[in-house]
Amino acid sequence: MRLLIACLSTALIALPASAGDRSGEEVFTNTCRECHGDGKHNAPVFGNRQQWGKLVREGLNDLVPAALAGLRQMPPKGGNPELSDMEVARAVVYMANAGGGRFAEPTSADVQRWRKKADARRKP
Ligand code: HEC
Repeated sequence: MRLLIACLSTALIALPASAGDRSGEEVFTNTCRECHGDGKHNAPVFGNRQQWGKLVREGLNDLVPAALAGLRQMPPKGGNPELSDMEVARAVVYMANAGGGRFAEPTSADVQRWRKKADARRKP
């Protein structure tokens, strides 16, 4: 059993980060950092616990649908439509946790729920 787990985790680590399966950190670096790195358009700044505190308290059920649908100066998916919903959700978790949150990696059930909320939301 232990050997099986060891093999599985090696296989997982060895998988290349293909499109649709990027980590939150990669998505942040490639897409979100442009604004969230230094607060362009007043985006909440990465790692700034003061700015992220309120957002972390709102929770992922608000933050992820907002990131998927867009919010004021923030375009849907941060302006990168190639990202999967899961990748966007991972990037939100990555940023929220850098801002003091303690959120777990999203599951596909979470992401389906957030997609429904995003579609129900109209971009203000
Ligand atoms: C073009 C600039 C830009 C990019 C790129 C961008 N954002 Fe944003 N983001 C913003 C701005 C501006 C706000 C603040 C929106 C407001 O409250 O008016 C924001 C707010 C947010 C929020 C808080 C939403 C809320 O409920 O208040 C989250 C979460 C977020 N962005 C996630 C992301 C993720 C994930 C990415 C990368 C996939 C990303 N952003 C890329 C500009 C950007």
